[in-house]
Amino acid sequence: MRVPVIAGNWKMNKTILEAESLVKEMLPELLSVKGVERVVCPPFVALASVAALLRDTDIKLGAQNLFWEEKGAYTGEVSPLMLQGLCHDVIIGHSERRQYFGETDETVNRKIKAALSHGLRPIVCVGENLDQNEAGETESFVSLQIEKGMAGLSVAQVRGMIIAYEPIWAIGTGKPATGVGANHIIKTAIREVIGRLFGLETAAAIRIQYGGSVKPDNIVEFMSQPEIDGALVGGASLKASDFVSIVRLSAQAKGLC
Ligand code: 13P
Repeated sequence: MRVPVIAGNWKMNKTILEAESLVKEMLPELLSVKGVERVVCPPFVALASVAALLRDTDIKLGAQNLFWEEKGAYTGEVSPLMLQGLCHDVIIGHSERRQYFGETDETVNRKIKAALSHGLRPIVCVGENLDQNEAGETESFVSLQIEKGMAGLSVAQVRGMIIAYEPIWAIGTGKPATGVGANHIIKTAIREVIGRLFGLETAAAIRIQYGGSVKPDNIVEFMSQPEIDGALVGGASLKASDFVSIVRLSAQAKGLC
């Protein structure tokens, strides 16, 4: 069975002090839920202080981005070498980075390779926008994002990664996909494409999350779906009680407690 994984993407929210207090508030409850992998992804500047709070726990720390070069004249960028040893995970290719910062499937591919070669686990985001969705292009678009993003990777590399299906129209809108709809896209445009490219065993092993307006009151709908192994949570990960509820309900939905 695939171990469910719930990750909180804090985006550009929380100062260092606020990040520390959010983690302190959720930590006891988060630690009490078993069987679900839990990841928090604060902004870069808060990573070191959150890492200190998570030391000796099984809660994982993730960054929200990285650059592919190890060092050099790349003002403002953060390298995989800097994240190595500090983080376990790194979100790559979030739609906000594609939309506002010019990231493409090619840069996503370079970042995935850089993360993997530095022992960081990528959480790779894919998903269509509203126009594509309404035009019936979701499956072809998401499949292509997977094909291009994963180009040149080995079976072993893909197996350990996490993919997040985040339809852009569902992010921050309060209008989530349906569980059945997300499950269908995850199956046909992600898991089956991984199967074709990397084999059925890899497709069966890789964990795929849903993201987009996930809240305590809809998480069970997603986690009850057979192809959905977790969630990438934005807004609701900024409130300790909501994030803890999402983690707890996910464990229950998968029959783990
Ligand atoms: P929301 O949960 O705020 O819709 O954000 C989803 C997301 O983009 C997580 O990466």
